[in-house]
Amino acid sequence: MMSESLTSAGQEPEERALEAAMRPKNLDEFVGQPRVRQQLSLVLEASKLRGRVADHVLLSGPPGLGKTTLAMIVASEMQAPLRISSGPAIQNAGDLAAILSSLTEGEVLFLDEIHRLSRPAEEMLYLAMEDFRVDIVVGKGAGATAIPLELPPFTLVGATTRAGLLPAPLRDRFGFTGHLEFYSQDELELVLRRSAVMLDLTVTQAGFAQIASRSRGTPRIANRLLRRVRDWALVHGQHTIDAKAAGAALDMYEVDAKGLDRLDRAVLTALCQKFGGGPVGLSTLAIAVGEEAETVEEVAEPFLVREGLLGRTPRGRVATAASWRHLGLAAPDGAPGAWGETEPLL
Ligand SMILES: Nc1ncnc2c1ncn2[C@@H]1O[C@H](COP(=O)(O)OP(=O)(O)O)[C@@H](O)[C@H]1O
Ligand SMILES: [Mg+2]
Repeated sequence: MMSESLTSAGQEPEERALEAAMRPKNLDEFVGQPRVRQQLSLVLEASKLRGRVADHVLLSGPPGLGKTTLAMIVASEMQAPLRISSGPAIQNAGDLAAILSSLTEGEVLFLDEIHRLSRPAEEMLYLAMEDFRVDIVVGKGAGATAIPLELPPFTLVGATTRAGLLPAPLRDRFGFTGHLEFYSQDELELVLRRSAVMLDLTVTQAGFAQIASRSRGTPRIANRLLRRVRDWALVHGQHTIDAKAAGAALDMYEVDAKGLDRLDRAVLTALCQKFGGGPVGLSTLAIAVGEEAETVEEVAEPFLVREGLLGRTPRGRVATAASWRHLGLAAPDGAPGAWGETEPLL
């Protein structure tokens, strides 16, 4: 288990119910992602006009950007029942066969983390998606026979954080693929505005801006920070959350102005102060911050790299000009990220 934090984009177990309440219920309420929203709306509208089930939909993108939310919206826009499962939950092809054979006409089947399906399940899915049919294998060995079973037409919505890991034959069977992007500052403010209404909070425009700018482009994190700020305001007797209150609250939770948390800052600080900006190997860097190399690589680094605060080079991790700037430090002459030094290829 990796260490979870306020700024990890993954869903915490106790967050499930809270998130369910915050989820936009239809496409009009869904903030941002204008292209995906428009294209998806067209796909759904057209299938309604034709009186057919909607094409299979693949949603890809980093955690917390709205894939599950969109899957639910597909079902509600189609006024269809929704069945939810996931790649890891389906142990073998038999599990998938059981789900598929119990679908009703027009039902939306949401398969989260579809890149983690087993091979046999994946192959069963090909046939189900294309021909609405599965072959149920009865018996074992030489006496085994495949009995074809017709399925009612259904819509598969697959979600994946790793579109690159999907085998081409699976990817090709989706009629529509939507790739979700990180949200802009304005879009995150809209997400927060909506959530604040639902939580019955009074937040100023500058307060929203303050929280949005620390949310790493991710609605899930924005909503989580908002809840923490709400707690802080409650305890401090602040009825209106302004920029100062939001800033003070998030500083207390060690989420800095760019959305870096304690671990991110520790990595960056070690890189710059202990190793002169690098290059330094991952395992050495991890020891310096007292974490597993895996945690540093998978939890802290993706965001640091995305923000241009850390470079990965063949010789190790290096600081960038932005790293020094963010820590308020002057880069020593000749250090990676120092003036005149070329930026590493990220
Ligand atoms: N476009 C959006 N507009 C408003 N809220 C959103 C949007 N996208 C995500 N959220 C919020 O963020 C949370 C996480 O979204 P979710 O769909 O579970 O992300 P994913 O499945 O991609 O990890 C949800 O509770 C939802 O309220
Ligand atoms: Mg999800």
